Amino acid sequence: MNANVRRIDDPVGITTARTMPATWYSSTEHHQHEIEAIWRGEWVCVGDVDESPAPGAWRSITVGGLPVLLVRDREGVLRAFLNVCRHRAAPLCEHGAEGGGAALSCPYHAWLYRLDGSLARAQGVGDPEGFDVADYSLKPVAIAVWRRWLWVHAHPNSAPPDFGPLANAVAAFPVEGMDVVLREADERAFNWKVLLENYSENYHTPFVHPEIDTSPTHDYPMVSNGLVLYAWDRPLHPGDDAGRVMASLLPGEPGWDALPAAATGKPYDVGSYLTVWPNLMLNVFPDAALAMWMEPLAPNRTLVHRRLYMRPGGRPDAVAANIAAHRLVHLQDVEICEAVQRSHDAGVDADGVLATFEERGVYWVHQHVRKRFEDLVPVSRVPDPRGAHVLDDDRGGQ
Ligand code: FES
Ligand SMILES: [Fe+2]
Repeated sequence: MNANVRRIDDPVGITTARTMPATWYSSTEHHQHEIEAIWRGEWVCVGDVDESPAPGAWRSITVGGLPVLLVRDREGVLRAFLNVCRHRAAPLCEHGAEGGGAALSCPYHAWLYRLDGSLARAQGVGDPEGFDVADYSLKPVAIAVWRRWLWVHAHPNSAPPDFGPLANAVAAFPVEGMDVVLREADERAFNWKVLLENYSENYHTPFVHPEIDTSPTHDYPMVSNGLVLYAWDRPLHPGDDAGRVMASLLPGEPGWDALPAAATGKPYDVGSYLTVWPNLMLNVFPDAALAMWMEPLAPNRTLVHRRLYMRPGGRPDAVAANIAAHRLVHLQDVEICEAVQRSHDAGVDADGVLATFEERGVYWVHQHVRKRFEDLVPVSRVPDPRGAHVLDDDRGGQ
């Protein structure tokens, strides 16, 4: 395992960390910074690749408000472009719509684009000086696939995403072969970071999800590396020295690699939990997987996509039990997240501390956010004057 992967049981800096100000979850100004720095400046998850267009078809999506067109040519190559005509900016395909055919025709003045994005014909354009159709291709957007999920980066020449060694921690889980048993997307009244924080800690579980067994016989190790935060349940065996296990266990060491084949009696019993910055939340279980990815619609509105996958051939009652368990957990989470957002919208800073063990993942989320704004946000707006010191800490492998 990469030397940068370390357990973050006690990351230096967390003891002096403070929660982020309410405006970071509610102000239009901060939201716009995030759109530029994160949603249009980094790789973001946009969906399950199985739902991308078929050969000869296209579909429009938005990425941080950016109109993007996914197009698969007849040879099967998937590309992404800005969904903006190079004439006078009409969308080639209405938001959320799909289409198909030999070429893309702009609905406004019928400029015609090939499926590789090049402009084939600009009918009626006459003779603008210096005009050459070769200079007016659709503007490309970078795309990539990791496992069964599609990623987009607004900058066309971006290097492929590198999720680092922790992405391999779920390599043995057969998520690609699982069936989608639940496909939902809901608009929720919270800032996207509120759900990311919620997902990245287990502190709330006994109180928000009382139906989940949080037995003290389960370890809940957590590691981080770059864009990935990874936690997993590990049933402790009789005789385990909890202190020793907590101090030494890392991915790649005995105990964690048996999880893909572990017997599991009920949903959320044995699982691996990845937060992939900035917007994918992935639960992987021996018999199922849950992926959630977010799209910010406004400072306090977020579209949350969810797909629940299960191994094929599962008993109907097991499928139904998984769907019901997921729906309950998700509803419990979004209700508390929307309640928290109401405080943020009221402009009230919690000025809170972070639980030094239980909120290691929240600290990881905050470190990522703060790193992207240390140049943009005046220090006076950061409630913790030691924030810069916190950012300097590298013990968590960030
Ligand atoms: S805006 Fe597309 S052809 Fe005019
Ligand atoms: Fe939760």
